[in-house]
Amino acid sequence: MADSPNCDLKSLSPLQLFERVTEQGEKVRALKAGKAPKDEIDAAVRMLLSLKLSYKATTGQDYQAGLPPKDLVLINNGTNKEEDEDFVDPWTVQTSNAKGVDYAKLIVRFGSSKIDTDLINRIERATGQKPHRFLRRGIFFSHRDMDQILDAYENKKSFYLYTGRGPSSQAMHVGHLIQFIFAKWLQEVFDVPLVIQLTDDEKYLWKDLTTEKAYEYARENAKDIIACGFDINKTFIFSDLDYLGTSTGFYKNIVKVQKHVTFNQVKGIFGFTDSDCIGKISFPAIQAAPSFSSSFPQIFNGKENIQCLIPCAIDQDPYFRMTRDVAPRIGQPKPALLHSVFFPALQGAQTKMSASDPNSSIFLTDTPKQIKTKINKHAFSGGRDTIEEHRKYGGNCDVDVSFMYLTFFLEDDDRLEQLKQAYTSGELLTGELKKVLIETLQPLIAAHQERRKQVTDEVVKQFMTPRKLAFEF
Ligand code: TRP
Repeated sequence: MADSPNCDLKSLSPLQLFERVTEQGEKVRALKAGKAPKDEIDAAVRMLLSLKLSYKATTGQDYQAGLPPKDLVLINNGTNKEEDEDFVDPWTVQTSNAKGVDYAKLIVRFGSSKIDTDLINRIERATGQKPHRFLRRGIFFSHRDMDQILDAYENKKSFYLYTGRGPSSQAMHVGHLIQFIFAKWLQEVFDVPLVIQLTDDEKYLWKDLTTEKAYEYARENAKDIIACGFDINKTFIFSDLDYLGTSTGFYKNIVKVQKHVTFNQVKGIFGFTDSDCIGKISFPAIQAAPSFSSSFPQIFNGKENIQCLIPCAIDQDPYFRMTRDVAPRIGQPKPALLHSVFFPALQGAQTKMSASDPNSSIFLTDTPKQIKTKINKHAFSGGRDTIEEHRKYGGNCDVDVSFMYLTFFLEDDDRLEQLKQAYTSGELLTGELKKVLIETLQPLIAAHQERRKQVTDEVVKQFMTPRKLAFEF
């Protein structure tokens, strides 16, 4: 790791180490808030990461902000495990491995369950539909209580879907579509209501935005979401800034969650510190509330106990671990979850894509030419340095971003397998693989742009109006 902390860390006491981690956390937040250059932030995050690892190596415990070390177990036996540890929370995803985050380990650390073949087969039996490619290919790889959703569904008990987006800017990229493409598929095969939360309040609290701007982004993002093809009779999209003030059901659930989570708990889960504004500290309750059907009395006829299923990227899990912990204490069912992997940046699977770096991703507004140039210029290649070497030794699909993108977007399993074989054997060159990706994404983005054009302000307004949907409860 580039900026591993000095060896003198070894001589620090657990409490001193704890203070160093806390200080570094504050520094990262200050840099982010002050919009410092990306490499400066990255370096500070890496430093934070290694400090946390040293803390864990010394104390045997995960660092929890606000909870100083106690009951020390010294497990530091001199082995250095830093290289194979990943860091994942709602704001930072960091790994040193070019293949990306180790998801099998994340399942163990987060205590969720693997989506295995048995579960996929069960979804197929219950719905009578071929499992979506995101399930077939392990893109949605982890879950909580999906078997309960299927039990209920098989007994003719309905449920609803909840997902969301933080509208931090006007620009959405292809990675943002994953959870919506999947939510649409789930909605279709199970025929259930879907609610989509746009956390404009969250983005106001975390970014340098006015409430007006955040709300505007929410409405702009809603257009891209609607363009995924959601059924207006089965889908409710809401902005927090808007809906919170109009729904008594929603706000009641927020205060119930707020009453049952302490400051110490959110510090532990989210790393908040004493100097974070109280808006941030109470925000997790707002992301939790849509997990309860009573937040939408108009859809569920006031019913409290309709079970919720949340498809989301794994970095959102901390919010829902908290929600699931609170649910029984406020007499509500725990939401079930389906977790996806992260969509890799063009530059490689080490990080999530960033909406603030135009070259890190393919945007929904990119022209065919921009798509081509970006992929040719920036997509990290698992190919060899020269054609001769490539032919001789073959390419590496595990780190090749063009191949990874194809696993997300190319529907045909046989074709994908052929490409994999040909690339691995050296028969197919990087340029040729990139061409397949370009030809896959160009029509997909063009079709999205075409559908988005049809989404008028009036359509957005309809999707965002609290109303009964086409379901009886
Ligand atoms: N916090 C999420 C983000 O920043 C947005 C969000 C709200 C969300 N509710 C959700 C994402 C439910 C997934 C599921 O993008």
